Amino acid sequence: MSIESDWIWFDGELVPYAEARIHVLSHTLHYGLGAFEGIRAYTQPNGRPGIWRLREHLVRFQDSLRMARLPSPYPLDVLEDVCLTVLEKNGFDEAYIRPLAFMGAGRMGLGARDNPLHVVVAAWKWGAYLGDDGVTKGVRLKTSSFSRNHPNAAMARAKITGHYVNSIMARYEANDDGYDEALMLDFHGMVAEGTGENVFVVKDGIVKTPPVTNILPGITRRTVIEILERDGIEVKEQLFGRDAFYVADEAFMCGTAAEVTPIQSLDRRVIGDGSPGAITRRVQEVYLDAVRGRVPWLAEHITTR
Ligand SMILES: Cc1ncc(COP(=O)(O)O)c(C=O)c1O
Repeated sequence: MSIESDWIWFDGELVPYAEARIHVLSHTLHYGLGAFEGIRAYTQPNGRPGIWRLREHLVRFQDSLRMARLPSPYPLDVLEDVCLTVLEKNGFDEAYIRPLAFMGAGRMGLGARDNPLHVVVAAWKWGAYLGDDGVTKGVRLKTSSFSRNHPNAAMARAKITGHYVNSIMARYEANDDGYDEALMLDFHGMVAEGTGENVFVVKDGIVKTPPVTNILPGITRRTVIEILERDGIEVKEQLFGRDAFYVADEAFMCGTAAEVTPIQSLDRRVIGDGSPGAITRRVQEVYLDAVRGRVPWLAEHITTR
C-alpha cells in the first residue's frame, strides 16, 4: 500500500506530496528528538470519515512534546482541524494520520535548542499493520533479545521518534528469525509490550495486561479495557512474565495501526488451540464496529466534520 497522498500539511499550509521536503541538517534527523502520533480515521454510517479518539491522540502528542522539552506550537483545536482537513483534501474516508513535530536545521550539537520546530500532518491508506492473515489467524511472536527502553533512559509514555530504534531492532530481529512481531520484556524481565502494540493475555476468563508504568499508554488498550468491562469481564492490570503466554487460553495485541490482532504463538509455543479465542474475537468485532460508528456507547469518541 502506498504512503503517497495529494497533500501534506506542513507548518501551517497544505503542500503537494512531492514538495514536503526538509533540509539534510534537520536536527531530529541526526539525534531523534521529535514526537509523533498514529491516528486512524474510518468511514462512518453516513459515508463520511470519522477520526477515532482524535482528542486523546493529540493530548498525548502534546504530552510527548512536553516530555521531550519541545514547544507545542499549535493548540489542540487547530491540530484537530488540521487532521480533518488533511483527510478531506486527500479525499480519504479511511486512512492513517501521522502528526509529527521535529527540530529543523539551524545549529548542530546536542545542546541546540532554538532551531525551528516543524509540524507536519500526513495521511495515507494503511491496511492491516500485521497483515490480513495476522488479523484473521493470529500472529507469531518471538520474545525479543532487546529489552524495552529502561525508564531512566527513555520515557515510555512519550512517542518520541528516537525511542523507536529500540522497537525497530526488536522487530527486525523477530522478522529475520521468521516471526511476525516481537514481544518486548522490561529490564526486570516482565512483559512490557509489542514494538508498536500493547498486549493482553486471557486465562480462565480473566484478562491481564501490563500496567502503564513502563509502556506506552495505548489508546486502543484503553478502548479494549472499556469493551471488556462493559461485557462484565475482569481486566487485571498487573505485571507478569512471558510464561503467562505459554499457559494462556488466548492472547492478543492492540494498537491504532494493529487494531486488535490475535496472537497465535509465542516462541513457537501455540496459545490455546492456535486459533483466535472467543474473547479476542469479541473484542476485535466490537472494536471494528465502534471505530466505524456502529456502537452507540462508544460513538462519542468519533470526530467528524
Ligand atoms: C510502543 C507502542 N506501544 C503501544 C502502542 C499502541 O498505542 P495506541 O493504541 O495508542 O496506538 C503503540 C502505538 O502507538 C506503540 O508505539
